[in-house]
Amino acid sequence: MDRRLFGRRKGRPLRPQRQNLLDTLLHELTIDVEEIGLCKNLGRELCIEIGFGSGEHLIWQAQNNSKNFFIGSEVYINGISRLLLDINEKSLKNIRLWIDDGRLLLEALPNESVDVIYILFPDPWPKTRHHKRRIIGTSTVYELARVLKPGGILRTATDVSEYKTWMLQHILNCGEFSWEARRPIDWLERPIDWPVTRYEIKALGSNRNCAYFSFKRNTLKIY
Ligand SMILES: C[S@@+](CC[C@H](N)C(=O)[O-])C[C@H]1O[C@@H](n2cnc3c(N)ncnc32)[C@H](O)[C@@H]1O
Repeated sequence: MDRRLFGRRKGRPLRPQRQNLLDTLLHELTIDVEEIGLCKNLGRELCIEIGFGSGEHLIWQAQNNSKNFFIGSEVYINGISRLLLDINEKSLKNIRLWIDDGRLLLEALPNESVDVIYILFPDPWPKTRHHKRRIIGTSTVYELARVLKPGGILRTATDVSEYKTWMLQHILNCGEFSWEARRPIDWLERPIDWPVTRYEIKALGSNRNCAYFSFKRNTLKIY
């Protein structure tokens, strides 16, 4: 696997309050490899989001599923500081953060430890020579399958036509997932327990159709 991280890490300079949260709250909420290794049989559902952007989906899920435990992974500092602001304002206690490559989070997670994985609007890397940078690809699909519990759910979304096909091919060809969509409406409309994200608002504003995929981890293991 190519372990280089591509994409932006930093944007505009941060306001003092947001910088202050990065210097304080971020340390409290950061989860390390040892703690992640213990994330099995937590007694509550474990949900992870890779590439949470500014965190609006993660915040919504954590607020609306307060008994579940969430780990969010992101590398874009401005997005992380936005999420920290919301966690602080809403006093959420069920989110921990992995401020690094989400693929390393997957590597650190035990087998069959996760109930739901969200990877919403991952960077599409449209040029063919950049396809190997895609977070959903040949090697990650097996890691996603390994960490999900049997019957666990993988949710993904994209607004890029060719990436829709790529996602379906990679996720279904690995043989570990089932796609239970029966009608176009099952993947052309966002389910009600799936809030809109910042990236999606931009995509819809540019008249790009989005696909909302939910895959179920098969119960029969082949790894
Ligand atoms: C196109 S944005 C979508 C953000 C958000 N999910 C949304 O829908 O608004 C993709 C995000 O994934 C993050 N990202 C890219 N590669 C990543 C990786 N390997 N691990 C964690 N986050 C990653 C980027 O920093 C970026 O914020």
